[in-house]
Amino acid sequence: MTTDAAPLFIALEGGDGAGKTTQARMLRDWLVARGREVVVTREPGGTELGRTLRREVLHGEDLDPRTEALLYAADRAHHVATLVRPALARGAVVVTDRYIDSSIAYQGAGRRLGRDEVRDLSRWATDGLLPTLTVVLDVDAATAAARRSGAPDRLEREPSHFHEEVRSTFLALASAEPGRYAVVDASRPPEVVHGAVVESVARVLEPVR
Ligand code: TYD
Repeated sequence: MTTDAAPLFIALEGGDGAGKTTQARMLRDWLVARGREVVVTREPGGTELGRTLRREVLHGEDLDPRTEALLYAADRAHHVATLVRPALARGAVVVTDRYIDSSIAYQGAGRRLGRDEVRDLSRWATDGLLPTLTVVLDVDAATAAARRSGAPDRLEREPSHFHEEVRSTFLALASAEPGRYAVVDASRPPEVVHGAVVESVARVLEPVR
C-alpha cells in the first residue's frame, strides 16, 4: 500500500435503489487495483454506535423529523471523528455510501426541515469535512422503487413525490457545485455505471508516486 498518496474522500449519493452499494464495491476494487488503501463505509451505520442508531432511525419507533435529523447527524459526527478522519489522515481513500447530502435531501427537503438548516447541522457535526468528490447516482423514483427488495425502511415507505423531491435535491446540489460533483445516469447496467463513476474519480485521483 502507498502511504504518500493524497487522501481522497468520495461520497456516493442517490435515492434508495440507485445501486450505491454495488458501485461502492466496484469502485473499491478499481482503487485497490491502483495501489490505494480503500475504506468503504456508509451512513447511517459505519461504526458500532452507528449501527445502533441505524436500527433505531430506520426501524424503531416513530420519530419527529427533528429527532430523525439529529440522529443522522450524531451518526455522522461519530463516523467522521472515529473512522473517516483517521483513515484520511493515513492516506487512505474513503468511499462513503451516503453523507451530508442525504440529510439535506431526505430531512431538509423530504421532511421539509429546510435544506440550509440541515446542511449547517451536518457541517457542525463533521467540523466542516466535505468530500473531495460526490457522485450522484441518478435514477428516477419509479425505477429505483422497482429495484428495492425486502421490508421497506421508514424512508422507503414514503410516497413517490417524497422520493422525487429527494432526487431533485441531489441534482440541484450537484448543479450548484459542478467542480465537486459528478452526476451519473444509474438506470444503466452496473458495469456501464461503474465506467462513468471511475471516469469522474480518475479526475480527482492523484497519480501514485
Ligand atoms: P441506505 O443505507 O442507503 O439504505 P439501504 O441499505 O436500505 O439501501 O440508507 C438508509 C436510509 O436512510 C435511506 O432511506 C436514506 C436514509 N437517510 C436519511 O434519510 N438521511 C441521511 O442523512 C442518511 C445518511 C440516510
